[in-house]
Amino acid sequence: MRQIKAALLGATGAVGQRYINMLPKHPYISLDVLMGGESAGKQYGEAVHWLFSDPVPDELAKARVKVARPESAAGCDVVFSALPSEAARDIEEKFAQAGFMVVSEASTHRMDPDVPLMIPEVNAPHLKLLERQGMKRKWEGGIATTPNCTVTGLAMVLKPLVERFGAQKAIVTTMQALSGAGYPGVPSLAITENIIPYIKNEEEKVAKEAKKILGALRDETIRPHDIPMGVSCNRVSVIDGHTETLYAEFDEEIDPRDAAKALADFRGPPQKLKLPTAPEQPIIVRTENDRPQPRLDRLAGTVPGMAVTVGRVRNGIDGKALQLTLLSHNTIRGAAGTAILTAELMEREGYIG
Ligand SMILES: NC(=O)c1ccc[n+]([C@@H]2O[C@H](COP(=O)([O-])OP(=O)(O)OC[C@H]3O[C@@H](n4cnc5c(N)ncnc54)[C@H](OP(=O)(O)O)[C@@H]3O)[C@@H](O)[C@H]2O)c1
Repeated sequence: MRQIKAALLGATGAVGQRYINMLPKHPYISLDVLMGGESAGKQYGEAVHWLFSDPVPDELAKARVKVARPESAAGCDVVFSALPSEAARDIEEKFAQAGFMVVSEASTHRMDPDVPLMIPEVNAPHLKLLERQGMKRKWEGGIATTPNCTVTGLAMVLKPLVERFGAQKAIVTTMQALSGAGYPGVPSLAITENIIPYIKNEEEKVAKEAKKILGALRDETIRPHDIPMGVSCNRVSVIDGHTETLYAEFDEEIDPRDAAKALADFRGPPQKLKLPTAPEQPIIVRTENDRPQPRLDRLAGTVPGMAVTVGRVRNGIDGKALQLTLLSHNTIRGAAGTAILTAELMEREGYIG
């Protein structure tokens, strides 16, 4: 198989480090260029405040962090971006203009009508937007994005519930991990022994992004799904792993056993194509009363951290309502893992290389 050379923007951040943790084990994507802001010019191992117990891989520890500009990534086939949204606008567009295909974690371009917002299991056909984007913006390269970390697990679980059973309404309450706010993130005095019932702009993003991802591609545009959604976002004192409770209503009675089977049976193009970062089973359904839990389930899946775990599947106020709890790893399935999976799908479909 052909080797893909990757460059990484935001290499020192919480999400950037997840790429450094995942990509050295990848069968055909190599991480060749690391780029940063304040860390540019330094050796990666010295610049980074490393968050994992595994050490920084030797070859990357000694790599020099480069300035975030297209010349730094010369010879690379794809650019992963883990930049904050303000920095992302200008920098990512420069890379796309210069002919690079950028896969971005930042929120900046997620809702642009010509930019795909990807979860490969859920909306693989949306990649087609890249063709229109290139023509419209006169870019040789392009920008594909991945969702907010809270949306990924939710949209994966909603997909079979919406398509199979026609879910009519969704009410979501999140309990989001600290690493979702980057490093150093939320001050320890604010979050220790505490829950903060507000995350700026998050509730709007969750509803809008989920509807775009679940939407249909027609006439080269995405028609967002019209499911009404109510969202409450909370920051909790957990390091990794976003937990969410979902309450969904349907037109007809729904048997929780049928819903649980549809979730466990859910598969998408990455599973059919056997992409290396695709878990064999994207949604794992637990039957114990006290699962999922962040400490026990955040690394679920044949590719650790890439499966969403669902539990407590039961009826709601009546037989037409369903309640469940879901958990997904925010920096793996909610960030770097889904971006790497998107790049794998783009390579298979001829958008990279
Ligand atoms: N954390 C999550 O769970 C999660 C999940 C999904 C998506 N996201 C999104 O992913 C992005 C990164 O999040 P994060 O949590 O990793 O943030 P973070 O820990 O604050 O890291 C930010 C990174 O961006 C670099 N950077 C900042 N300003 C720059 C500039 N002007 N030019 C070049 N590089 C610059 C920093 O490099 P220096 O250290 O060199 O300055 C650092 O490597 C954000 O857009 C976030 O919304 C995060």
